[in-house]
Amino acid sequence: MRSFKETQLGLLCSVLLLVLSIGVAEGGRDWNSIIKLPTDAVNGGEDDKRGTRWAVLVAGSYGYWNYRHQADICHAYQVLKRGGLKEENIVVFMYDDIADNEENPRQGTIINHPQGADIYAGVPKDYTGENVTVENLFAVLLGNKSSVKGGSGKVVDSGPNDHIFIYYSDHGGAGVLGMPLPPYLYAHDFVQILKKKHNAGTYKEMVIYIEACESGSIFEGLLPKDLNIYATTAANAEENSWGTYCPGMEPSPPPEYDTCLGDLYSVAWMEDSEMHNLKEETLKQQYNLVKRRTSNLDTYMTGSHVMQYGDVTISKEQLYLYMGFDPANANATLAPENNLPLFEDIEARAINQRDADLLYFWQKYKKSKEGSSEKLDAQEKILEFMTRRMHLDRSVQLVGNLLFGVEKGPAVLNFVRRPGEPLVDDWDCLKTMVRTFESHCGSLFQYGMKHMRALANICNEKISIDAMSRVSAQACTQVPSGYLSSLQRGFSA
Ligand SMILES: *[C@@H]1O[C@H](CO)[C@@H](O)[C@H](O)[C@H]1NC(C)=O
Ligand SMILES: *[C@@H]1O[C@H](CO)[C@@H](O)[C@H](O)[C@H]1NC(C)=O
Ligand SMILES: *[C@@H]1O[C@H](CO)[C@@H](O)[C@H](O)[C@H]1NC(C)=O
Repeated sequence: MRSFKETQLGLLCSVLLLVLSIGVAEGGRDWNSIIKLPTDAVNGGEDDKRGTRWAVLVAGSYGYWNYRHQADICHAYQVLKRGGLKEENIVVFMYDDIADNEENPRQGTIINHPQGADIYAGVPKDYTGENVTVENLFAVLLGNKSSVKGGSGKVVDSGPNDHIFIYYSDHGGAGVLGMPLPPYLYAHDFVQILKKKHNAGTYKEMVIYIEACESGSIFEGLLPKDLNIYATTAANAEENSWGTYCPGMEPSPPPEYDTCLGDLYSVAWMEDSEMHNLKEETLKQQYNLVKRRTSNLDTYMTGSHVMQYGDVTISKEQLYLYMGFDPANANATLAPENNLPLFEDIEARAINQRDADLLYFWQKYKKSKEGSSEKLDAQEKILEFMTRRMHLDRSVQLVGNLLFGVEKGPAVLNFVRRPGEPLVDDWDCLKTMVRTFESHCGSLFQYGMKHMRALANICNEKISIDAMSRVSAQACTQVPSGYLSSLQRGFSA
């Protein structure tokens, strides 16, 4: 074993390397001049021949403790903008409660890296607040302006030669991706929309990147290979994804931040795109680099399995078809020394997404003065989150025991289908199970998404809705009230 000192030194060197590489990437370039670079002139006529590049960027959460998701999305906007994509071709979904949040130590700005510059300025507010909905996302993807409700009305009005890039960052669970307000996005509905878009013939090829817990389950056994769509996900169908640049970790955010600044897979692809020549780097090369960084150097001790789905032959293509090309990186090569700095110990630099909210309140608790109202608030929040978690965990477990017996219950609920098989056969059943559970036991919220697999397995076991309703009532004798109630908040399905 290496001594503590050596490990510390190694870590310090890695951090320095990171600082240096960022310095090289950002050094001497004025942010505004980057945005205004005449990239179009560089790409010139090529763009017309290849059609238009479109992007849809979605942050599915709200709340300051989820800072990182909206930071990811703003960062992605800047990467694409510097790549020459036009604002009119990038549709942004974000709740937009971070930059001006009273908790934000640098008012009016958002960063996605400990030494990062502001990435909020210039990001269009297409769909914010209550307008960040699954319905609007689907209408935008289909290019259906008349079915959009609220927001800027910007849609992906694409043609047959166009390339589309979709990037989503949030919490998720088996078969679902979160949205700021319920209902959530269900994998089967999403893939149906993709099929519809394909049938309409309004794109040439599409690339989808998804950061969320269990994000592989969105495509596992669901995304056909013949839609001209290539997708990668932060995690496989049954594991968490990871927040990064978190307080108390290496590298940590500036001391005034109590929250994680980014997510591991997300910052991996964006920092990679920012330092390479995207006319040369292929999707496959990026996949491999991101996979390595997200997996703790292929050890998977912590970290997650980055996965790929759909038409993998598309990954031979260069990234610039989707993300454009920043002339400043014209001379960058994919030589090993130009790869992303990697850290030896992922445990110290990432946190399971599902625990990031607790880390935030714990951080606030630790930092605030003894006896202050902030300390009391933070303590109450931690208690509230923990109580809600325990209530959900306990209720789901009880439902399982009542349906399948104490012995079989846990095994049935936790059962994971083979790779290549979808989470559930009957997606309407899953949604009904979610609503049934929630009407007795209260909202799942972002944490409760971890129980989607259990609800899916109840469907796969062909349990009737009546039986589910009966045992849910037994498990949750008191229907939660106030904002915990799905009747007030709306169902997750
Ligand atoms: C757009 O949405 C509206 C309302 O949902 C629907 O009636 C219409 O058929 C859609 N148009 C297309 C082209 O899909
Ligand atoms: C939703 O969109 C409508 C129409 O553009 C707008 O008036 C409203 O302010 C938006 N809501 C939020 C929270 O942004
Ligand atoms: C790339 O290298 C060429 C030739 O050395 C040089 O003229 C050009 O300025 C460099 N471009 C950038 C963006 O560094």
